[in-house]
Formats: sequence, structure tokens, C-alpha cells
Amino acid sequence: MADAILDPEPIVRALQAAFARDASREGLLRLAASRIRAVGSPYTGVYMYMLGNDGILELEAFDGRPTEHTRIPVGQGICGQAVAEMRDINVPDVSAADGYLACSIETKSELVVLIRRHDEILGQIDIDSDTPNGFDAREETAVRAVADALAALL
Ligand code: SME
Repeated sequence: MADAILDPEPIVRALQAAFARDASREGLLRLAASRIRAVGSPYTGVYMYMLGNDGILELEAFDGRPTEHTRIPVGQGICGQAVAEMRDINVPDVSAADGYLACSIETKSELVVLIRRHDEILGQIDIDSDTPNGFDAREETAVRAVADALAALL
């Protein structure tokens, strides 16, 4: 495990303030991604995928290394599995994960937290880490607080 525990409160406040200033949906997603990544290790890359009616997760904002996976069908990759199974997924070792779609050879672990409004899945926060086993339950809880704030504002 790396050092950081994400404090969601200032990020949630920043999102609410941006919303009050009429920030766009993309602006809110970009703000969340950059504020999470600014925490540093284990948050190497933060990708905001939003679910379309066509069953495709579309990359709408990110902070970190660019990825070729800008459109991911539900069921594919860790991202698509999280939607298909309607659950957050924490992968401590991506090399051992079935169906994993690599964005960078440096990535060692990954955390996907769904953005949900009641029963509806709006999208997800997908986080790559260069640290093996980068995320524990405390980090998951913190990222979920940001996802819940986004669900209320998007
Ligand atoms: N690793 C993800 C793909 C997204 S990129 O890593 C940003 C997956 O397996 O779905």
C-alpha cells in the first residue's frame, strides 16, 4: 500500500462550487479526475467513463496518461465488468485479472467505482495505479464519496 488516503471533502466542495458556477458536465468530470489524481500515489491515472444508452462506456474526461480505450462496451474489461455486475471492482494485481484491458504497461492495480443515482448507473471513476495492491477499503470509501457527489450534480 502507498501512503495517501484520499480526503473526499474538499473535492466534493470544489465540485459543488463548480456546479454553482454552471460548470459543464465535462468540466465537473475533469475537475474530479484532476483533484483525485493530485493526491499522488496510488492515484496514477483517473478516467471518467460515462454510460450511454447504447451500452458503451465513453471516456468523457481523464487526468494522467492517455488511453486508447475511449469506448468500452458493457461486459468488456474491468470497466465493463463493473457495469455488467453492478458493483465496484478493486483489482490488486491487473496481471492476474481476466479480461483486463491495458492502458499502460506500468499499471499494477486498478479500482473502478460506479457513479450511481439510486438504481441507475451513470458511469464510473476508473483509477489506475502504478503501485501493486494500491487501494484498500478506505480508499474505496473515499472515491465512492466523490462518485456520489458527482451522481447528485451531473
Ligand atoms: N483497464 C481498464 C481499461 C481502462 S484504461 O485502463 C484507462 C479495463 O480493463 O476495463
